[in-house]
Amino acid sequence: MMAERSPLEGEEAAEEGSDHIPVLLRQVLDNLDIREGGLYVDATFGAGGYTRAILGYTGTRVLAIDRDPNACQFAESLEKEFGERLIFRHGRFGELHEVAVNAGFGRVDGVVFDLGVSSMQIDDGARGFSFQSDGPLDMRMSGAGVSAADLVNSLSETELSFLLKFYGEERRARAIARRIVAVRDENPITRTFELVDIICSVLGGPRPHKKHPATRTFQALRIATNEELHELARGLSAAEALLAPSGRLVVVSFHSLEDRIVKRFFRIRAGQTPKASRHLPEIQDEMMPQSFQIINRRPVIPGEEEIARNPRARSARLRSATRLEAPAWPYELDDFGLPDLQKR
Ligand SMILES: C[S@@+](CC[C@H](N)C(=O)[O-])C[C@H]1O[C@@H](n2cnc3c(N)ncnc32)[C@H](O)[C@@H]1O
Repeated sequence: MMAERSPLEGEEAAEEGSDHIPVLLRQVLDNLDIREGGLYVDATFGAGGYTRAILGYTGTRVLAIDRDPNACQFAESLEKEFGERLIFRHGRFGELHEVAVNAGFGRVDGVVFDLGVSSMQIDDGARGFSFQSDGPLDMRMSGAGVSAADLVNSLSETELSFLLKFYGEERRARAIARRIVAVRDENPITRTFELVDIICSVLGGPRPHKKHPATRTFQALRIATNEELHELARGLSAAEALLAPSGRLVVVSFHSLEDRIVKRFFRIRAGQTPKASRHLPEIQDEMMPQSFQIINRRPVIPGEEEIARNPRARSARLRSATRLEAPAWPYELDDFGLPDLQKR
């Protein structure tokens, strides 16, 4: 049964109390096909825009996760409003299955991912995500572990070049890597603007109506620092294991690397693309029963009105699928087209 919408539900409600405007909110809710009393996972809580909107439906419960400790403050204020209907856990969605089981969530009716960084993260120069403001070259969503500066100052030229090419699709990866290594031999690179200067010295400065020359390098470093693509692979696989039959998996991505992984995962699980496995013989691949049915053949994108209201929605792509009865497939990196980081 479709749940009733409370007066709080809707985009204005979801925007309350934060600077982050939830992207494709209406389409996310429609694709989740929210049921009265249903259990949902918001794998990327952020400022809680999606969670708030889901909780606006009668009797729903949400398990929300975010790896950024700053998200806790938004969760606390929603907990005050919705009580036990919201359970927030600080953690990574790569560990979604363990987090959900520990929180007492068995099979859930929907899982949503809204990938990448939030406006709060990008706008805070001290987090080091943005090439538009000077700050420490950090980029750690969780605030812990290896920072972007650690990578820039420690990887070999070949490793840096691979990173910029693979995670940033940067055509001049080798030249930028070479310049980074030459500069850091004099002094470690610690600030965002130092890196921007290095990139501009190779690619030339910013030009009107063109992507900023640092865009791809910053994207690559952010992905590598947070192991974002591998997290996504683990998260999708965990969602597959958690979803009840008829449950919905909805993913909003912001660049082609993410979207490609989601598309490939859905197509393999829906039996539309043969599984290229190094480990399982062909015959077994053919026998794997379909675990998802794709809902939209093409990704859902924001309309002009949303982009005008929130330019950051510009590159958003939503893909969704319905979980079928078949058991979850085993997790294999091949299904996501990703390299094994341990083996490199
Ligand atoms: C685009 S924002 C989500 C915004 C949210 N939908 C809202 O309406 O407020 C992405 C969030 O996902 C979090 N995140 C990214 N990767 C994560 C991961 N692997 N595990 C948990 N949280 C992650 C980020 O810290 C960020 O807060």
